[in-house]
Amino acid sequence: MSYAPVTPAVVAELRAIVGDKSVLVDDERIEAYGHDETSAEEYGHLPEVVVLPTTTEQVAAVVRLANRERIPVTPRGAGSGLSGGAIPSFGGILLSVERMDRLIELDRANMTVTVEAGMVTNDLAHLVQAEGLFFAGYPMSVETCFIGGNVAENAGGGKAVKYGVTGRYVLGLELVTPTGDVVWLGGKLAKDVSGYDLKQLVVGSEGTLGIVTQVILRLIAYPKAASDLLALFRTPREAIDLVPLIMGQGIVPTGIEFMDRLSFQTSCAYLNETLPYGEAGAMLLIEVDGNDAARVEAELFAIGDLCEKHGALEVYVGEDRTTIERLWSVRRNIAEAFKVASPVQSLEDIVVPVARIPDVLPELERLSAAYGMQIPCYGHAGDGNLHATLVKDPAMDLGTWHANKDACLRELYRVTRDLGGKISGEHGIGLKRKPFLDDVTNPVEIELMRAIKRAWDPANVMNPGKIFDV
Ligand code: LAC
Ligand code: ZN
Repeated sequence: MSYAPVTPAVVAELRAIVGDKSVLVDDERIEAYGHDETSAEEYGHLPEVVVLPTTTEQVAAVVRLANRERIPVTPRGAGSGLSGGAIPSFGGILLSVERMDRLIELDRANMTVTVEAGMVTNDLAHLVQAEGLFFAGYPMSVETCFIGGNVAENAGGGKAVKYGVTGRYVLGLELVTPTGDVVWLGGKLAKDVSGYDLKQLVVGSEGTLGIVTQVILRLIAYPKAASDLLALFRTPREAIDLVPLIMGQGIVPTGIEFMDRLSFQTSCAYLNETLPYGEAGAMLLIEVDGNDAARVEAELFAIGDLCEKHGALEVYVGEDRTTIERLWSVRRNIAEAFKVASPVQSLEDIVVPVARIPDVLPELERLSAAYGMQIPCYGHAGDGNLHATLVKDPAMDLGTWHANKDACLRELYRVTRDLGGKISGEHGIGLKRKPFLDDVTNPVEIELMRAIKRAWDPANVMNPGKIFDV
């Protein structure tokens, strides 16, 4: 693929569109836009210029310029992605929505909130919570991510067992198309079968089908009661085997999170936190919420009983929110803790039908032995979504690591496919998994995706090089 460079004339035109202060070209100011939360060395690439628009019209004008000149545009939220989706791998224009962070409207009667794409998801959550309302498309990186990025990646998180992922709450969105048109897709509607559901096609398209500038989100009442339990198990398999049994009870917990020993130990060390885990080889952290406190408690106790019946070493029911928050903090910080403890690694995101999740762990044990690397594992077990993390042994040289990691991933992804699963549940394909997608996807399906991309983005300027090559 060849693109035109960002010339001084192009920079001048960008300045005319968004204003002098909203165009960055200095090395030290654009450096932060050259990577996301995946390991920087492997996937990093600097943009030629960064633009920080404040209106949809500015975004559209930048995209039209990019089409005319054939310069790639990479949309970016908070840069908290985990598959390289926001990395400008062909240079060009990096378009950050960070200055588009306004609340447009909280509509009580329709139970919706409309916000710009650059609003921090945590700010959104607090803003609606102050009104007794709940944005349930809660992602794990809630403190740092932007809602626009959540939409682009169709983010998941720790409450998806009950509430589902971001896309379930997206009722409408304003899109700047890859050719620079502006269109509203969907709206404040409970139903809509007026043609193809283009809005849901945009959700999870990783910024390849345009730039989301505003989103209308569905809200629900904030649940009045929530309670959590922590169950400790001797082995990871004992913990995981229980997950389909819990789900099969017909109780729908808010979330069932799994952590093996290396995962929670690494996070505890990183946070200077002490948990009473003793000899435990794995943990389940389970939340139940709802509006009826007695019912929440009864359901949590039913799950606790099940854990005890199936060999849990200990079951702690979280009495106070401070203790519960400490537990969740250990869970939320695992990825960051591993990045600090073992920077050379590959954070995975496989997802299988929940009933097949017990079949994943023996495969991870086998791959770990075959390729000489530790593969700690944690994740959203109730969704069948696990973050197995391939970690380089300090003694292994980098060349061997890369070869072994790639071979191991290829095998892991095939195993996942054979279990009826997919290679990413919430982090996306981006750059990181692009080399592997073909191998585990029906060619008809990939070709349909390519056809959509070609139709929407004939000049291939909108976040090119992500998911698949056209
Ligand atoms: C988590 C991120 C890595 O679940 O998705 O912690
Ligand atoms: Zn996750």
